[in-house]
Amino acid sequence: AANKKILVLPGDGIGPEVMGQVRRVVDWFAKHRAVGFDLNEGLCGGAALDKHGTPLTDETMADAMDADAVLFGSVGGPKWDDLPFEKKPERGLLRLRKEMDLFANLRPAVVFDPLVGASSLKPEIVQGLDLLIIRELTGGVYFGEPRGIETLPDGTKKGFDTQVYTTPEIDRVADVAFDLARKRRNKVTSVEKANVMHTGVLWRQTVTALHAAKHKDVELGHMYADNCAMQLVRWPKQFDVIVTDNLFGDMLSDCAAMLTGSLGMLPSASLGATDPTTGRRRALYEPVHGSAPDIAGKGIANPLAELMSYSMMLRYSFDLGEDADLVDRAIERVLAEGKRTADIAEPGSSKVSTSQMGDAILDALDRLGR
Ligand code: NAD
Ligand code: IPM
Ligand code: MN
Repeated sequence: AANKKILVLPGDGIGPEVMGQVRRVVDWFAKHRAVGFDLNEGLCGGAALDKHGTPLTDETMADAMDADAVLFGSVGGPKWDDLPFEKKPERGLLRLRKEMDLFANLRPAVVFDPLVGASSLKPEIVQGLDLLIIRELTGGVYFGEPRGIETLPDGTKKGFDTQVYTTPEIDRVADVAFDLARKRRNKVTSVEKANVMHTGVLWRQTVTALHAAKHKDVELGHMYADNCAMQLVRWPKQFDVIVTDNLFGDMLSDCAAMLTGSLGMLPSASLGATDPTTGRRRALYEPVHGSAPDIAGKGIANPLAELMSYSMMLRYSFDLGEDADLVDRAIERVLAEGKRTADIAEPGSSKVSTSQMGDAILDALDRLGR
């Protein structure tokens, strides 16, 4: 069969730095495991803006639609922060998500045993933690109309955004949550603010009805988003799958990242609907972190969130579970051997650079899997 087509979009800041290490791992898999991909690299974010005057060209958008999967780095940075909305680097990513219709963003927060001490929480709170946040990714306040900044007749200004959800949007993401929970610990917590927001009321009603109609075998609970933020740091092991809207999911996943030791440890998969005739599903894999301008260019970023995003790609887009497991085991091995980038370093561990982490991963793969 023809090789699968992967579009690689490293982006800005630490994006290209972490992607550089993942490219080495991709090459390793091509050489030793015959996992061959046709890789095509493109520009997105500030990099595309500087070259083409737009954060995502129509050509790159078309390449993304045509690819079997997109592997994304991170976009944005202070250089572009003051641009109008349509030019901001972040628009490039938002356009990809919207036009590819990637409504389900899977953000697993898994605590690797060797990193229990790297979390800011007590070991007994995080040890063995494995939760999955499913963030709705193409709706809500990120895309709702109207939005803008207006000057009123008296000269004051008004900024406004609109939170919108329809029942099909809620149904389809909740369906993903129930289906994935069934393969895990069978528990879904649906998170909104039904006490304050109309979208929250509709969200709760819709998830409850869907549960009664199709997913009664899965345990369902509801929680307000503010309480969820607190519960995540109080006792995160109460959660299995959390399903929530675009904005709450953004915030709760950064919060959950810290349970694992670092934002540099959280990968994600952004998935569209499965095409009933081809069985194909549009997908983009992106770490949860951003372009980290504070450390960009220093060669110290943690490449593991990007690497785990690659492993999610192997698992979800290509059904290569064994190869994905191999990546995950190599990561666990390297961490157990005490090699740590600065963000997860602890007393007694040996601090490594981004590329040294790449070296260590390749070395572990050589030992584990060829
Ligand atoms: P950020 O995620 O870039 O960084 C937050 C903090 O986490 C920083 O201190 C950073 O050094 C640290 N960090 C993040 N990733 C790391 C890694 N792999 N290794 C070590 N440390 C890491 O968030 P921010 O600073 O709020 O945003 C910076 C820029 O990134 C903004 O322009 C923002 O819009 C953009 N952003 C992009 C994405 C994306 O492309 N998916 C996601 C979030 C933020
Ligand atoms: C993320 C980021 C993005 C978001 C930005 C860069 C548009 O924070 O992927 O978590 O808010 O969705
Ligand atoms: Mn975010």
